[in-house]
Amino acid sequence: MKKVAIIGLGPMGIRHIQACRNSKELDLAGGADLNVARVEELISDGFLPSGGGFSDYKQMIVELKPDIVVISTNAPSHYDIFHEVVNLGVKNILCEKPIATSIEQAINMIETASLYDVLLLVNHSRRWCLDYVELKSLLEIGEIGKVESVTFSMGGGQMGCNGMHIFDLISYLTGARVDKLIGFLNDEGVENPRGKHFFDPGGYALVHLDCGIRVYFEMTEDLGIPPLLIINGTYGRVTIEETKKRMTVEKRASEDCELPVTRYGTPLKHVTEHFFEHLDIVELTRVGLENLAKGEILADPSDALKALEVVIAIHASHEMGNKMIMLPINENHTIEKVFSFT
Ligand SMILES: NC(=O)c1ccc[n+]([C@@H]2O[C@H](COP(=O)([O-])OP(=O)(O)OC[C@H]3O[C@@H](n4cnc5c(N)ncnc54)[C@H](O)[C@@H]3O)[C@@H](O)[C@H]2O)c1
Repeated sequence: MKKVAIIGLGPMGIRHIQACRNSKELDLAGGADLNVARVEELISDGFLPSGGGFSDYKQMIVELKPDIVVISTNAPSHYDIFHEVVNLGVKNILCEKPIATSIEQAINMIETASLYDVLLLVNHSRRWCLDYVELKSLLEIGEIGKVESVTFSMGGGQMGCNGMHIFDLISYLTGARVDKLIGFLNDEGVENPRGKHFFDPGGYALVHLDCGIRVYFEMTEDLGIPPLLIINGTYGRVTIEETKKRMTVEKRASEDCELPVTRYGTPLKHVTEHFFEHLDIVELTRVGLENLAKGEILADPSDALKALEVVIAIHASHEMGNKMIMLPINENHTIEKVFSFT
């Protein structure tokens, strides 16, 4: 059994606790949060082992000597905590997304992990969700023809918190990375649900992937609707509604696939409904942690950096009058700029 210690005991920290409790391979050694009352409550409710509650995460690591440390605080503290945890000699770290709040910080974290032989997993868990793994295979064998475009729409703003998941997922499913975009912020002054001190507005963008796929993206503050992801191929489309746990694949009948694209009215007769069986944050987190315990990271942290860079590029484009931004970003001001995403 590998000992796990969790820093940050908000809703996501609780999911990490549950992931450990659901595992035969992980031993929840303890948790730390600045909010002492919360730590005490979790001990008295039996969520944390007695002697496993701390307000100072460094003291927790020194006392408990965990094999794995989870950083589940808000994004602005990920960078500093990561470095402290590495300095304390921990070799396996799961950091919640977003990896950090600047490109420079994220690059530095990845370099530090490599330098000190630390396994760093950023919890972009859709990458190892088997429903998406199967979808990726379907797209690769050309189930809907060649993927040409992706559209995504969702309300609630908070591109830094939620948009990164989507850009990472698109990148995973297509095997491509964003190479340029034009972005717009949509800041309606909606207070961030995690507190006024966070600034994580909504936005929309026209995004281009290096394989030629175009992405029409919106995650705005003027919509209160659930996420809808549509992947369009030459003769079919995949519609993903995560909140309904449903994925629909529609395509032309096989005898129609050779018809020209100008015959766009050709019905998509072949329809298959898939229901998500593995899209459960606690379970995916358990799988991520168990693999980390075995010395395997299920996602490369450089992919988390790329997802962060896309959201930062949307901000940069907006600030420069919706100028097209090329990625990877090589402009120092944007690389160094620190955001307050959650
Ligand atoms: N992977 C996912 O699907 C997923 C889902 C939800 C949230 N998240 C991420 O998880 C992180 C936490 O989210 P949340 O909803 O629990 O946030 P939250 O704001 O509700 O809770 C964060 C907790 O961290 C504590 N904290 C902050 N700084 C600390 C420090 N220096 N030492 C100890 N404790 C500290 C706070 O007191 C708070 O209890 C965020 O980065 C968020 O984006 C990931």
